[in-house]
Amino acid sequence: MHIDIFCLFPEMLDSPLEQSIIKRAREKGLVEITAHNIRDYTHDKHHTVDDYSYGGGPGMVLKPEPIFEAVDTIKQRIPAVEVPIVLLTPAGRLFNQRIALEMASSSHLMLICGHYEGIDERVREHLATDEISLGDYILSGGETAAIVLIDAVVRLIPGVLGSEMSLNTDSHTNNLLEYPQYTRPPVYRDWEVPPILFSGNHREIDEWRRRKAILRTCERRPDLLERANLSPEEKQWIFESLSSPK
Ligand SMILES: C[S@@+](CC[C@H](N)C(=O)[O-])C[C@H]1O[C@@H](n2cnc3c(N)ncnc32)[C@H](O)[C@@H]1O
Repeated sequence: MHIDIFCLFPEMLDSPLEQSIIKRAREKGLVEITAHNIRDYTHDKHHTVDDYSYGGGPGMVLKPEPIFEAVDTIKQRIPAVEVPIVLLTPAGRLFNQRIALEMASSSHLMLICGHYEGIDERVREHLATDEISLGDYILSGGETAAIVLIDAVVRLIPGVLGSEMSLNTDSHTNNLLEYPQYTRPPVYRDWEVPPILFSGNHREIDEWRRRKAILRTCERRPDLLERANLSPEEKQWIFESLSSPK
């Protein structure tokens, strides 16, 4: 996969995209990530990337020309495939694991990061093919949003994670939050690891984990359960657990 990021502060991306899993994925050649500075696509003496908002109001708005020129220049180098051009914006559709999975199947992604007050609307209307929000809060720039999106997408590319198994148990993969995890020591400050985990009975351990995952999702994110693939027995079990007095 190739990922091109168009932003004003490419240095912000350096360290996060050069560590851990993303670093290894890049070294293995599973993903190639290039950050382009939008400022390099300006033609005036001051390399102007922003201007005042027409109609007045606070803050500066990113001009359309350098962004269109940057994206068009890189697109020309790519074979004629449809490349998703994702605008990072708090007004986009809310990012989640399903969207990350969708994106992980693309051979190429382009991410446009805004800064300051925002981006000229024509970028959204005539250049972006998708708009993604990382959540209902405001970041100072799209660079941090791009880091989060890339991290979530890259770990889903086949071959990136050591054990593909962990993908299947991660929270949100099956619309269930992950079950509780423990490691050594078996007792820490009088807090014991649940004995079932030492039983060696993998069927019972899987069942215990599944129930814990369902229960945790039920308590913390009941909205997810509707999309989780629960058996009629599991639905009945939830009903009984919720209706029985504690
Ligand atoms: C300070 S914000 C601008 C917010 C804009 N005034 C608004 O209310 O939508 C600057 C840039 O950060 C990025 N950004 C901020 N919050 C974001 C979020 N929740 N998701 C994705 N990108 C975000 C966008 O690229 C945005 O153009």
